[in-house]
Amino acid sequence: MCGIVAYTGCKEAYPILIKGLRRLEYRGYDSAGVALSQENGISVYKCRGTVADLDEYCSDKNTVSHAGIGHTRWATHGEPTTQNAHPHLSEDGKLALIHNGIVENYLVLKKELMNRGYEFKSETDTEVLVHLVEDIIKTEQVSTFEAVRIALTSVVGTYALALLSADEPDQLILAKKGSPLLIGMGDNEYFIGSDGTPIVEYTKKVVYLDDGDVALARPGKKLEIRNINDNAKKRPYLQKLEMNLDQLEKGGFEHYMLKEIFEQPKAIRDSMRGRLNVRKDVVSLGGIIEYEQKLMNARRFIIVACGTSWHAGNVAEYLFENLVRVPVEVEYASEFRYRNPLIYEDDVVIAISQSGETADTIAAVELAKAKGATVIGICNVVGSTLARATHAGSYTHAGPEIGVASTKAFTAQVTVLTLMALGLARKKGTLSMSEYHTIINSLEEIPNKVQETLKLNDQIKEIAKYFVSKTNAIYLGRGINFPVALEGALKLKEISYIHAEGYPSAEMKHGPIALIDEEMPVVVLATEQETYEKTVSNIQEVIARKGKIISVVTRGDQLVKAMSDFCIEIPETLELLTPLISCVPLQLLAYHVAVLRGCDVDKPRNLAKSVSVE
Ligand code: G6P
Repeated sequence: MCGIVAYTGCKEAYPILIKGLRRLEYRGYDSAGVALSQENGISVYKCRGTVADLDEYCSDKNTVSHAGIGHTRWATHGEPTTQNAHPHLSEDGKLALIHNGIVENYLVLKKELMNRGYEFKSETDTEVLVHLVEDIIKTEQVSTFEAVRIALTSVVGTYALALLSADEPDQLILAKKGSPLLIGMGDNEYFIGSDGTPIVEYTKKVVYLDDGDVALARPGKKLEIRNINDNAKKRPYLQKLEMNLDQLEKGGFEHYMLKEIFEQPKAIRDSMRGRLNVRKDVVSLGGIIEYEQKLMNARRFIIVACGTSWHAGNVAEYLFENLVRVPVEVEYASEFRYRNPLIYEDDVVIAISQSGETADTIAAVELAKAKGATVIGICNVVGSTLARATHAGSYTHAGPEIGVASTKAFTAQVTVLTLMALGLARKKGTLSMSEYHTIINSLEEIPNKVQETLKLNDQIKEIAKYFVSKTNAIYLGRGINFPVALEGALKLKEISYIHAEGYPSAEMKHGPIALIDEEMPVVVLATEQETYEKTVSNIQEVIARKGKIISVVTRGDQLVKAMSDFCIEIPETLELLTPLISCVPLQLLAYHVAVLRGCDVDKPRNLAKSVSVE
């Protein structure tokens, strides 16, 4: 959720921190702050608002420093105010700390510290950490590094944190449990980030901290990592950061979201690369080969995910049940984890997550593993917590997704899930060779068809004008296009703040139909599929109540087109593959509506890209 950046070395720290915060802003953007080691001690500059506001605020301040920490916040405890913004200072002003995560027992710790005379300036859970460390330094006469380690043994909750100390001005103390933290190794210098985005410009050599690690980074000295609980020393494990700088730029697009929508042909191709070989009839996902037998013998697939990834899971339910003929349950990870669910050893749990850091999804994975199930991950961020927590998995290779509203990650997830279902279906013999050929040939054509669909951008921009003044919208779909309706509605509400609901078309008459009048836009996915005629009837029911129809149809359709107020024609494909195409106009529609309504598309209010708290 929040973004963390830190630097220590010979370079000027402030420009690195500000640039890093700009890159991390998609993780949280209600307030931002930096702490810098300076000649006279630690200076903290922070304010409510964006990183640009912070930079403006700092423009007349002394920012000369070679070591510092920076934070961009997504509020959990306490409103987004300057007081609650990080960094937080110790009472003596010698320690500054930034934190991502939640200190669950902060009230207990706060009470103890208040009894000992500490005064709190913010409503955050984070502030207890800095006072706790200060108290341990004073009472136990230990080094700051040791004090952080000891302090964390009494913390319940999750954290990625960075601490700066005036007594050792060029050292950074870092710790991780449940929230990601990476340490980039430079030339006698260290670059720290809550993901690779603020680091990649400087180095690709990184150490991913593991849960329970506390680290000491000092320029020119070896990185020291210890275990929080037993103080055991650990050897840093150096890895290559899989990210390129140009992937983090807008590349001429007005917003990241639009860029990412237009990147989908490439993202889908990349997610198939090396895995789909049409000429040789091969579908293979290298990452799960070792567990193939488990997947083949699965009695049931349980898919756990949140948000857009959950919608991809719902598409997968249709794919797996149709192709592999094994029952599938799709679960909100947040519900699953607390339901005491029935999980058996011959269940295969598939966890889907773009970021690989979503707290509820990770917890669901841990639960499934504890109950003996095989757990497969599908995620986009290489080296993420999910990738490391699962038995095996496949990366989606969509490239970094910065826009908070997920687009290319969704289509890449659906692509990987399609490949997985196809590979299993073929091995299990639940699909005839001719059907198998037809599907893999059609799948190979999908990137070009998505490219064609993107040409509808101008038409969709026009349709968006109709939505600008609306307050509600209904999205309808049937079969494999029902999850696409859910996803279309989510996109619209996330970024334009128009209330939107996705429904299975036939279910409309059990409730939402009461809302339909001449003011209600109804977006209907009416592509050629088995239930096309039934969808036509549902459209008639909307028209009879004066609702406005915005349809997505297969190119050449006459019937639904004639009934629609606006009609979007997409290229034809197999019914099972339509979500990969039909979601694209809905993404574009949400985007243009949001732009026309003057919304901050890439940073919609209250949302965050990576939800690493429950
Ligand atoms: C947040 C994001 C969504 C995303 C969801 C799940 O709500 O704003 O775009 O779909 O988290 O994230 P994940 O990284 O697990 O796919």
